[in-house]
Amino acid sequence: MYNEKIQKLFDNQKHVGEMKDADAMGQTMNSPCGDAMKIFIKVKDGKIVDAKFKTYGCIAAIVSSEALCESVIGKTLEQAKKLKGEDIIKEIGGLPQLKMHCAALCTEALQNAIKEYEEKQ
Ligand code: FES
Repeated sequence: MYNEKIQKLFDNQKHVGEMKDADAMGQTMNSPCGDAMKIFIKVKDGKIVDAKFKTYGCIAAIVSSEALCESVIGKTLEQAKKLKGEDIIKEIGGLPQLKMHCAALCTEALQNAIKEYEEKQ
């Protein structure tokens, strides 16, 4: 069901866990499947310098969160705001049709984290 890249990312998660000193955290939940995720970000001079995730969900949701954290580090907040589920799907080499929403879910959590960060400023 999942490609090799997804399996590798799942076996080598670098960004999983809570970030105690995060500047902001965004969360989201998908009611139909019950999966939930949190994205933590650390921001310096308008750039995301670190990102972590906690995802309670399927493999697609976990791997999408991992890929999102990896790709968002080094991006400006403005660049990160443009990140879409399709970008993550491309990044991980595709997802089955039924799992497309999993990637969109983590970008939603990221947007919520950015929103929280901006509200704090
Ligand atoms: S099945 Fe719900 S996020 Fe993947």
